[in-house]
Amino acid sequence: MRRQFEHFHMSEDYEVNSLSQKITGRHVIQQVIQMARAQFKNPERLRALDIACGPGNLTIELLHALEESFPNTKIVLAGLDYSEKNVNILIEASKGAVEGIVGSFYEFPSAIKNEDIIFSNHGLHWQPPYEMNNVIYSYLDSKERAKYETWALKNFKKALVNIYNAMREGAIAVIQFGREGQIQKLWELVNKIFDEPPFREYRNKVNFPVYHPSVANMYSSLDEAGFAKENIEINVLAEDLAEDTSSSITKFLRGFTGPGIGQFFDQEKVELFYHTIEEKLSHSDINEFRKGQLLTTIIKLKKPG
Ligand SMILES: C[S@@+](CC[C@H](N)C(=O)[O-])C[C@H]1O[C@@H](n2cnc3c(N)ncnc32)[C@H](O)[C@@H]1O
Repeated sequence: MRRQFEHFHMSEDYEVNSLSQKITGRHVIQQVIQMARAQFKNPERLRALDIACGPGNLTIELLHALEESFPNTKIVLAGLDYSEKNVNILIEASKGAVEGIVGSFYEFPSAIKNEDIIFSNHGLHWQPPYEMNNVIYSYLDSKERAKYETWALKNFKKALVNIYNAMREGAIAVIQFGREGQIQKLWELVNKIFDEPPFREYRNKVNFPVYHPSVANMYSSLDEAGFAKENIEINVLAEDLAEDTSSSITKFLRGFTGPGIGQFFDQEKVELFYHTIEEKLSHSDINEFRKGQLLTTIIKLKKPG
């Protein structure tokens, strides 16, 4: 397995340190239920998919919400994730009630088709592995950044095409991911710390291949993927980070960067890295820091039936 693959893994304690992701995810689940109630009238069976399900705590919440809203319907729910470890956690935690699929949203496994409902929370901004000499693409020089953005936008469209093709006629999808400027202050802090001597040598090694598209790019990509204008609704939100102490913001960051950092750093330096983050945060105005940092986009889609 290529080393960059580590960057996609969430840390062991991601679930307990992902309050921001959970809050948004619960809101997205409510939107799914609202849309599903309007779209499906007492169906015998509903097939649903959670894309980039992670350890699956929200997938299980989605299952319960669907079961409650459709008591006479058989809910067939699956979670898809790159990480086999996460998928196994989901299968075990749901006691087999949710099917787990190990795979990528860039290459949908053939089992994914004829879905009635698609849900995704904080996942679709992850790109495939990409070797670049900076932590995230926003700090690349303009030429390298433009190259990355062209590549990433193409991949983003591919994921949307996969979603479109997996939806049966009459299906709905509610997908949420970060947009341009997402947690920018936190990335700025990480970027600054990579200038400090104990970490400088890793700047060219560690990278997080995320892509936060602009709203205009989302519209054009959805259009190219096949969604008609009248079946696209994009809601743009700017929420505060739910984490409100230097320690919880550091744990939140570690939840999705820990494995990526840890594959190159010695354990001692991993600890020093997050300690430095927390220390710098503790000297800043946390309320100011967390304000409006979660730039999420909730996209509601329909495929005409
Ligand atoms: C921040 S977690 C989100 C987990 C969960 N949806 C939540 O809201 O808590 C992002 C997840 O995306 C998964 N992921 C990243 N790239 C992927 C890909 N190409 N295909 C499938 N899953 C992917 C990672 O393995 C990780 O579990």
